Amino acid sequence: MLDKLSAVPPDPILGIISAHAADPSPKKIDLGIGVYRNEDGGTPILKCVKEAEKILNSTETTKSYLGPPGVAGFNSAMTDLIFGEDSAVNSEQRVHTIQTPGGTGALRLGADLIKAAAPDATVWASDPTWANHDAIFPAAGLRLENYPYFDRQKSDLRFDAMMESLRSKGPGDVVLFHACCHNPCGVSPNEDQWREITDLTAEKGFLPMIDLAYMGFERGIEEDTVSVRLFTEKCPEVLVASSCSKNFAVYRERVGAISAVCDNPQKASDVVTVINSLTRKNYSMPPTHGTGIIDIILHSDELTALWREEVADMRNRINGLRNILSEKIANAGIERDFSFLQRQSGMFSFLGLSVDQIRRLREEFSIYTVDSARVNIASFNDSNMDYFVDALKTVL
Ligand code: LMR
Repeated sequence: MLDKLSAVPPDPILGIISAHAADPSPKKIDLGIGVYRNEDGGTPILKCVKEAEKILNSTETTKSYLGPPGVAGFNSAMTDLIFGEDSAVNSEQRVHTIQTPGGTGALRLGADLIKAAAPDATVWASDPTWANHDAIFPAAGLRLENYPYFDRQKSDLRFDAMMESLRSKGPGDVVLFHACCHNPCGVSPNEDQWREITDLTAEKGFLPMIDLAYMGFERGIEEDTVSVRLFTEKCPEVLVASSCSKNFAVYRERVGAISAVCDNPQKASDVVTVINSLTRKNYSMPPTHGTGIIDIILHSDELTALWREEVADMRNRINGLRNILSEKIANAGIERDFSFLQRQSGMFSFLGLSVDQIRRLREEFSIYTVDSARVNIASFNDSNMDYFVDALKTVL
């Protein structure tokens, strides 16, 4: 049976990791996968995580099964963080959060939940969207289509075109939004635009599903949930797939969560039973080391304050790099305008290069990025930026 299977090409994002690792050049740069890097090019464990892990290791008394919902303290702390401790939806118990293996696990569980509720639903994702969205929803048996989002000429949001497209959606449709730090284009709606989007969502009655993978990397932890809170105030049902990979830098621990907002507390409890049953059929129950760590951080004022500082440091460094890169490109005499880098946010921006130019960067300069020319801004530092700008000038 298995001999019918042929090899599939590597994932476009993950394939970069191995290609970069195999390159012996001392000047190589990995601008591919979305991992935060510090000035030395490393991805250290956050101090708050190290501290909490010590506490976890010294207090944990069992590794026995915990059941499909995982760590209850993590789940409730994430609800408070994402929706607000004093929010109406929280105090009315219309929302529940269940831990998942990473943000991808949350998206897949959300997709399975949609499939269980409305097998013929169409999921609408922004054009472009994270490459794995294109795989996850069809893998759950759902139809995935796109709505206009990014203007490649102006490197900006196609707000009017997006709104026009969303006006044609209704019950039976699911619209996937990126709460902040849009992956891959770095362009987000502003608060006024989110108000218009959420008004339209409530009017048309489609289900909003929000991918919250970079909370804290755009403007701030609470600021980056503004869309979630607006959707939740206005719409009876909302799904949020969140990730702690980036903001707690616990990438390989696989920590994420699916939150389901329902019209009333009874329905919210019912939906949790469906999520738990989907979990049981899929991976039975989630790993708890990463969520145990985050549970400790979010229940300690001291560690939460340290975490907030560490997130702010990562955000500020990326924003600083955006300014420096844009200035260096302009000062190098490159005619094309890259000032959009300063206006965008989060780890990613598109450089607008052709596949040939991307190949030249890789083959002539050992600079690795995905073929879409999405770059991870956090990979730049003092010692590689000039080399990159020279290479960019050459291929342009
Ligand atoms: C990315 O887009 O690079 C990250 O979200 C990591 C991943 O799994 O693709």
